[in-house]
Amino acid sequence: MWTKQDLYEAIGKRFADHQLIVVSNRQPYAHHFREGKIACQRTVSGVVTALQPVVTACSGLWVAHGDGSADRHTCDPRGIVHLPPEQPQYRLKRVWLSKEEVSGYYYGFSNEALWPLCHIAFIRPSFRAEDWQHYQAVNRKFAEAVLSEVNDRKAFVWIQDYHFALLPAYLKAARPDLVVAQFWHIPWPNPEIFRICHSREEILGGLLSNDLLGFHLRYHADNFLATCDREIDSRTDQDRTTVTRKNHRTRVQPFPISVDFEAISRDAAAPEVASLEDSFRAEFSLNFEHVLIGLDRIDYTKGILERLQAVSRFIEKHPEYRERFVFVQVGSLSRMHIRRYKDLNDEINDLVEQINWRHSTASWTPITFVRRTLNYWESLALYQLGNICIVSSLHDGMNLVAKEYVAAKNDLNGVLILSRFTGAARELTDAVLINPYNCEAFADQIKVALDMDADERQRRMARMREQVAENNIYRWASRFVLELSKM
Ligand code: F6P
Repeated sequence: MWTKQDLYEAIGKRFADHQLIVVSNRQPYAHHFREGKIACQRTVSGVVTALQPVVTACSGLWVAHGDGSADRHTCDPRGIVHLPPEQPQYRLKRVWLSKEEVSGYYYGFSNEALWPLCHIAFIRPSFRAEDWQHYQAVNRKFAEAVLSEVNDRKAFVWIQDYHFALLPAYLKAARPDLVVAQFWHIPWPNPEIFRICHSREEILGGLLSNDLLGFHLRYHADNFLATCDREIDSRTDQDRTTVTRKNHRTRVQPFPISVDFEAISRDAAAPEVASLEDSFRAEFSLNFEHVLIGLDRIDYTKGILERLQAVSRFIEKHPEYRERFVFVQVGSLSRMHIRRYKDLNDEINDLVEQINWRHSTASWTPITFVRRTLNYWESLALYQLGNICIVSSLHDGMNLVAKEYVAAKNDLNGVLILSRFTGAARELTDAVLINPYNCEAFADQIKVALDMDADERQRRMARMREQVAENNIYRWASRFVLELSKM
């Protein structure tokens, strides 16, 4: 199993004399005013889950948007705060953005243009000139923040995600000697889809300023290379692993992201998780033979409506399961300033109400919808309670809920129902795989999961756990860094 130590050594081999700087939009911790006091809250996000162990292992610097109400009160004049609060091991530099910047860069270009463009969930992307201007300006602001911390030292800047497609170009223009790499956490679409993007040349030019560019899957990397072939003056080499543009070579490789298997598995057995399980059991009245769970940001890519419809169809087809199971869907509100997200939230409410009205009995309501953001410990408790976990994304770069669920199931007593359209489905082939667009077959697979005998369930879960344990977050990060060492 890859460990923190392996990652530390991988970084030491190539970057001993470099500063490690991670850049992401979402910060790992936010400070908020609560009842006259300042509270520090760990952020719930895939990127944060993945990167926190990496920055901790290397005592690095993390640069991110400071969006907490009390953030400015907790850092020094340079925006720096030491984290985690209980035992500081790395520094976070907060970048301050105005409401207009957040609206144009985060809600607008990142999440109304790039997000739907890359996910292809049949939501039309919106390209607005003012959003693009804010996206450029915020990428420049982050470049200045990074450069001000690097000074004249050597640094390895590891950029995360689609919020920063232009940042590599701005950094390299100022300091060509910096090692700049980026991981794109969402899918990359085929060239036919990408060509509708208004600023495609600038985006591709930005991404091709990286020394290394990572995607979850070979399929996404191939889509990216095909897009470059069509849309920008560049040369892809014969083995299709590097692109050269203006004498700069970018290596393009797949690195399937993962979780800290060991920590999750250990923490899932902690007494505080057991006591949270008890409180959830009481709060959601979980005294049924089977507990199905779902845990997502409320996002149209996650296939939450499709999942609810499949549960409803399952009840119609198999009425003998009435009063024998309950489905607890936890959804955290997300990007609510975007119309489609607001509408989706309303649609979910309506659908849950309709399904419960249709199928409920005097002593049973099939679906419990909980609109709440669970913290790390609460999510572990939910995983423990669910003997079936449903992940039904319409399209997902990886999906870390699937891997967390597997890592938390120490007793092997769990079945994962997983969309074929997640990156995770390439690795977790022992899940019960579904096409979320096919309601009938999805409902049948719920039955397969419920009826699976204990031996089969445990065999499958054991194999998935081996897979996640072996391909953990430290392997992901170490492979990324080792790839850079070859260059
Ligand atoms: O899946 C890509 C990703 O960037 C995740 O890292 C993260 O959980 C989510 O999308 C973004 O969420 P938010 O917009 O709330 O930061």
